[in-house]
Amino acid sequence: MSKLTAIVLAAGKGTRMKSKLPKVLHEVLGKPMVTYPVRAAVDAGASSVVVVVGYGREAVESALRAEFPELDMRFAVQAEQKGTGHAVMTALPFVEGGCERVLILNGDLPNLSAATIAELIHVAEQDNSIAALLTARVEDPTGLGRILRDSLGRVLQIVEESDASPLQRAIQEINVGSYLFRRSYLDGALITLSSGNAQGEFYLTDLFGRAASMEEFPSALVVEDLVQVTGVNNRSELSKAEDCARRRRNEQLMVSGVTMRDPNTTWVETGSQVAADVVLGPGVMIRGRSSIAEDCIIEAGAILQDVQVGRGTTIAPYSHLDGCTIGEDCTVGPFARLRPAAVLHDKVKVGNFVEVKKSTLGKGTKAGHLTYLGDATIGEGVNVGAGTITCNYDGKHKHVTVLGDGVFVGSNTELVAPVSVGARAFIGAGSTITENVPERALALGRARQRNIEGYVPEDDSGE
Ligand code: UD1
Ligand code: CA
Repeated sequence: MSKLTAIVLAAGKGTRMKSKLPKVLHEVLGKPMVTYPVRAAVDAGASSVVVVVGYGREAVESALRAEFPELDMRFAVQAEQKGTGHAVMTALPFVEGGCERVLILNGDLPNLSAATIAELIHVAEQDNSIAALLTARVEDPTGLGRILRDSLGRVLQIVEESDASPLQRAIQEINVGSYLFRRSYLDGALITLSSGNAQGEFYLTDLFGRAASMEEFPSALVVEDLVQVTGVNNRSELSKAEDCARRRRNEQLMVSGVTMRDPNTTWVETGSQVAADVVLGPGVMIRGRSSIAEDCIIEAGAILQDVQVGRGTTIAPYSHLDGCTIGEDCTVGPFARLRPAAVLHDKVKVGNFVEVKKSTLGKGTKAGHLTYLGDATIGEGVNVGAGTITCNYDGKHKHVTVLGDGVFVGSNTELVAPVSVGARAFIGAGSTITENVPERALALGRARQRNIEGYVPEDDSGE
């Protein structure tokens, strides 16, 4: 097999999205739409990818570079979007010399699989055709290019909707927007394209009619799985495409051993991993680059963004976790909020209405209720009482709180940072701690209680 280069078309604004954001950067399961055809092309064997960019090109380029740091990827700038044929013309100089076949994918097909592309390549090779494409038979072909065939079933032409006669518009076989061309054919044929059509554009699709007119009939692979061929042109189609992607991911995960109590409401984004024997409750979202190890239970409504969770940990309902690392056999929540750089070692317990930011909690440490821990380094086996607050901010700067191993922090304590508490020290409930506490000391930082006897007269009914 000769070298394969893919061209991904992503220069259009996507006017029908009604958006400032380029169409191809709208996200599907947590990743920009355009990353999907690039991934599929690579998985189907493309060794390099040329992306045609135009509208919002800097943003499109940086999104793709971030997703594919290792890939041989070049960007061809199509300053003015004069059609898909013109886009490919712009890309051709960036296609490697040794490459005999060129795969071309529209950038707005997020659900097209690598297996389908591989099949297209296979069909084109078997037929030894100069041009091959994916087609599909759809209920509603509105807006799409129609496939014209002769009585022998050979593809004669692709007619765009705006150029089609009423009779042609009735055709339900459509052009998906994925092609395989022989390089030598592309080189010669692209320059012959004209923009004499209803949209005044250079249509890539005209190359199929041209091939047929030379008796070089195109290969067509009809895709049965319609999910794969649904292009995204507006936000309604975007939500349908994302729904399909989500369901497909959930199916794969369940088959691989993940329990989902309600797959209809469960989201696991493309960049996240969930191991076998994990249970996901209704409404759970696993987002970004998260990973959930075996035997975890993530209960209803929990949202995890870029979170690493060790095996056997339970995240109770409605917890919100972002950018943190959690060890094995921990329990978090319900209603916990773990913010970036929260690190929980094994067997930590963080309970309801506890917020943790940029803090490390050592093995077996507990913060059960109504607490704020920010910029804190907390040792092992520490008991953080209900209502404890690290006062980490003085209005200008953030300061660090250090709690040694085995410290007991009484309820409703304020730790005014910078401050450190030595190992196994005790802090009395209700204390405001402004000075360091030595190891094994008892610190009391609160007003002494005074009782005034007989303060309320005996006959006072309280009215
Ligand atoms: C195109 C096909 C149509 C097919 C449909 C499938 C042509 C002429 N028509 O139509 O037969 O049924 O896709 O979705 O190809 N783009 C550029 N530069 C341009 C124009 C487009 O890079 O100058 C990119 C867009 O960003 C997009 C892709 O090409 O990712 C397809 O463009 P779009 O305008 O959506 O094509 P359709 O009109 O939908
Ligand atoms: Ca389209």
